[in-house]
Amino acid sequence: MRTQVGIIGAGPAGLMLAHLLHLRGISSVVLEIRSRDYIEHRLRAGVLEQGAVDLLVESGVGDRLLREGMVHEGVNLQFAGERHRVPMTELTGRAITVYGQQEVVKDLVAARLSAGEPILFEVSDVRLHGLDVDEPVVAFRHEGRDVELRCDVVAGCDGFHGVSRSAVPEGVLTTYERTYPFAWLGILAAAPPATNELVYCHSERGFALVSMRTPELSRLYLQVPPDENVAAWPDDRIWAELQARLAMADGWRLTEGEVLEKGVTAMRSLVVEPMQWRRLFLAGDAVHIVPPTGAKGMNLALADVKVLGEALAAWYADGRDDLLASYSDTCLRRVWRAQHFSWWMTSMLHRFPGHDPYEVKLQLSQLRYVTTSPAYARSLAENYVGIP
Ligand code: FAD
Ligand code: DHB
Repeated sequence: MRTQVGIIGAGPAGLMLAHLLHLRGISSVVLEIRSRDYIEHRLRAGVLEQGAVDLLVESGVGDRLLREGMVHEGVNLQFAGERHRVPMTELTGRAITVYGQQEVVKDLVAARLSAGEPILFEVSDVRLHGLDVDEPVVAFRHEGRDVELRCDVVAGCDGFHGVSRSAVPEGVLTTYERTYPFAWLGILAAAPPATNELVYCHSERGFALVSMRTPELSRLYLQVPPDENVAAWPDDRIWAELQARLAMADGWRLTEGEVLEKGVTAMRSLVVEPMQWRRLFLAGDAVHIVPPTGAKGMNLALADVKVLGEALAAWYADGRDDLLASYSDTCLRRVWRAQHFSWWMTSMLHRFPGHDPYEVKLQLSQLRYVTTSPAYARSLAENYVGIP
């Protein structure tokens, strides 16, 4: 097989890149180890920055997002039993949209299939060759056959557990990393959202988050120990813990309902630099991970491939390689801003095992400051909605 751009991974990064290249008349083949059904139902992130919404809408895949996405102009921070709203749109002129990552994936897969462009599901044994001589080949197995895909360029969009990053020789990449002494237990529940906007909650019992997917579905998260076993959390325990952490002085209570799904997500910060080696360009979770507290993961993945799509278009149309050469530096500026914001939100809102009462007082002071000072609130808001 031969194509211009070989794309490994059909997450938000790989699918969006394939779509942007198609709009510019550049051919690509998308390779995905999972099935279509699996990637379209994998429950993950839910918050789109204004820039991500604009990218989806302007590239023609935002119709359902505009109909079904829930636009939020504010976000709540809760601590010491009080809830404070940060009016994001008033402070920044921009908003976020709540729309599940799997819905973005469904819309992009549909666009790919209706364009009649290749996307191969359930491939296995993906390997990269020829990068050192600038003749990339992606070898893989599909439907019982060994296949070799020759391409000009490879886009490694295969997430944290992918193979692309490890195709770069030892010593080229530098890794910057943090792990956190907790994880998130997330549930999807058949319960109308108890609030109009998200609630990020600091409590003595640990962090909790109230989010949503539709007017009928709530998405809720609890801080739990790292490597927590989901089996330790029967539904009754989850609801009791959510109610305890989210309790307010005025007696407000969370709406409960049937738990449809639950899972535990590890918390990690990671950046691998640079995001390119020769003809291999890495994007999204394949090269950077943030803890979910800032809701940045999917947004960064989409922002990377917007830059990469434009750089590849300039290279193919005009032979310009300056945008490809600056791809990594351009993306890393946004990546590091999101790293700091995600680390900061995580540090401010979670209960750390080693924290003493002094550190808890510092968290509470920071939360009070960020919800009462318009200057500090604007800083939070502009990072949360995404810096253009
Ligand atoms: P991915 O979405 O991971 O896509 C990579 C794709 O590559 C996958 O489909 C994978 O199957 C495929 N793949 C892997 N290896 C290979 C291979 N060898 N060959 C071919 N294909 C391969 N972010 C938030 O902001 N909020 C959240 O609540 C949140 N929750 C999350 C929960 C979980 C369990 C995880 C894992 C992530 C979560 N994230 C969250 C992060 C967010 O979902 C990611 O940042 C986002 O998915 C990044 O998109 P991506 O396209 O870079 O990677
Ligand atoms: C959701 C996930 C997040 O990580 C976050 O910060 C806000 C909302 C969600 O899944 O809805």
